[in-house]
Amino acid sequence: MGTHTESLRMSFFADTIKIPADGLLSLIGEFKADPSPDKIDLGVGVYQNEDGKTPIFNAVRQAHAKLTETEDSKSYVGPMGWPGFAAEVKRLILGQELERKIGKRVAVMPTPGSGGALKVAGVLVRRLRPNSKVWLGRPTWVNHKPIFNSCELQIAEFAYYDHDGASIDRQRMHTDLSQASAGEIVVAHGCCHNPTGEDFNQDDWSLLGSLAIDKGVIPLIDVAYHGLGTGFDSDMAETRTLLSKIPEAILTYSFSKHMGLYRERVGAIAVLTENAETAERVQSNLTEIARQSYSMPPSYGEALAHFVLTDRDMRSSWLAELEAMRVRVQSIRNDVSAALADSFGDNRFNYIRTQSGMFSMLPLSSEQIVSMKADASIYMAPDGRINLCGFTAPKIERFTEVMQNIMRD
Ligand code: LMR
Repeated sequence: MGTHTESLRMSFFADTIKIPADGLLSLIGEFKADPSPDKIDLGVGVYQNEDGKTPIFNAVRQAHAKLTETEDSKSYVGPMGWPGFAAEVKRLILGQELERKIGKRVAVMPTPGSGGALKVAGVLVRRLRPNSKVWLGRPTWVNHKPIFNSCELQIAEFAYYDHDGASIDRQRMHTDLSQASAGEIVVAHGCCHNPTGEDFNQDDWSLLGSLAIDKGVIPLIDVAYHGLGTGFDSDMAETRTLLSKIPEAILTYSFSKHMGLYRERVGAIAVLTENAETAERVQSNLTEIARQSYSMPPSYGEALAHFVLTDRDMRSSWLAELEAMRVRVQSIRNDVSAALADSFGDNRFNYIRTQSGMFSMLPLSSEQIVSMKADASIYMAPDGRINLCGFTAPKIERFTEVMQNIMRD
């Protein structure tokens, strides 16, 4: 090629803007690289046991063994993923009774994690109602807004958490949500609210139901921590009650936390429609969106999940381990709030005891959060969210001392 041609060439990538690394996910690498023996990881939402490990569930290990023994091909399994997986997910989401009643009205599609499910949901909404608005709580999972933005949907926010009262700002939330109108999406967390740990109460669920029934608002319920809140059945109770009453909804579901399949990216989207015929048409759209986005979901983790869900022994072993994890998180909540009460001499951190799931928020400024990391090797999300699983007894003691110092400064 001559120099003349080269001189006319315009660089395609030269003007690319550098995007800052994801503030939450970059904590994984930062924490690993920190040489401090006292470091504490309260960052990314991953379960950790007493040894700071994120173990593979015993049932998942058994499923691995079974899959290794029986899998005889790596050929495509198709858009619906591992055979039977989607049907099991539907049962898991709805429970047997509701599945009998409304199962035919629900389209389910396996997705790469629940992040993939949210993206498919956003593309579906954009396809059906390009001018729709997505209502997100302030705050909500840090990736909700980027995902729906990337689907070119308008975003509106509703008040959710009152940092001073460490509880849901109900009055403002109800006022804000009363402005949502037909065809708009309201994103709610099924349980274990991320990042606040404050879940909807019955009045909030009723409000969501009324918005759906009276105004045609579409609830999108994000379920990423099933079984880590108040219990495996109770965590889905309000969601199921809502789904039993309303005509239409979207639900996204994750196997990352409750089956520990984080890196396998196992998730699903479920869409509740008014009748079986509509569900079929929605299903065809989900399939097409998946095809256009990533063609087919990864099936390895789905196979593992399917084995665990359908084998009686593996299933009960999984549920027992999950319950033990839930109990551990709850006891950490008790210990952290008791240690802070002792140290501060008041009950300002009592909310940590009563909240649900893996997360609570600390009332710290951005500077204080940076200083916790830089000066004390205590890692938390940039918004002050802590993952309680990162604590052990000695770590609680050190954390409490650091909190005293930092809040006194
Ligand atoms: C979290 O909220 O920490 C997790 O869900 C990990 C993630 O992807 O953000």
